[in-house]
Amino acid sequence: MFIWAHRGASSIAPENTIKAFEQAIQAQADGIELDVQVVENIPVVLHDAWLQQTTNGIGHVTQVAFGYLQSLDAGDGQSVPTLRDVLMHINGRCKINIELKAADCEALILADIEYALEHSAVTADDILVSSFNHRMLARFAKLAPAIRLGALTANLPLSLAEFATELGAWSVHCARDFIDQDFVQDAHQRGLKVFVYTINHAEDMEKMHQLGVDGIFTDYPTRARQLFSVV
Ligand code: G3P
Ligand code: CA
Repeated sequence: MFIWAHRGASSIAPENTIKAFEQAIQAQADGIELDVQVVENIPVVLHDAWLQQTTNGIGHVTQVAFGYLQSLDAGDGQSVPTLRDVLMHINGRCKINIELKAADCEALILADIEYALEHSAVTADDILVSSFNHRMLARFAKLAPAIRLGALTANLPLSLAEFATELGAWSVHCARDFIDQDFVQDAHQRGLKVFVYTINHAEDMEKMHQLGVDGIFTDYPTRARQLFSVV
């Protein structure tokens, strides 16, 4: 079972911060999941477009200055990191799932990935780019055919995992409430990895194991690591 630390080890450190990513590595997560917004053309690691959700600031990412964002506290004295900072900081120590939250950000994200590939120990195999916006994923694929794509879905499509095949995705990322045996089987027949979000309770972790999924996103990577070391 592949363990993705959801927004880092977000149960024990402020989500999407360097501290949460360090804790994820300490918890022996296989990878970190992070969300990307864009402020003044700079990709930043932040789930919500409204700053008041996770920081002591206010405003929308499309309406604030990067300098202002940098001055904010994202919890425990942590700042909102840039995507480039996180890629360089991880430096190849674990896999990184970059979830694109901002509209039309694919070229900016690719520039940061390419910078990290050139200037750090991060390799192309370490990177998995995902989004609920499948049109944006398709555009990203054209720009960077060598980077793995994860197709996110918050529902259970009638044609099961066909949409992920159409996108040329490497993996499909499903919501826990909708995943079922038919979907897992269909995705696996298509050669896709199946990752499920967000799995925090031990019973759900067991259930995902029974379903035969390839990995989970969890806020509790330590719990997942302990559980999957015995099942
Ligand atoms: O990528 C899986 C999961 O993170 C998607 O939902 O809202 O936590 O970004 P959300
Ligand atoms: Ca996410």
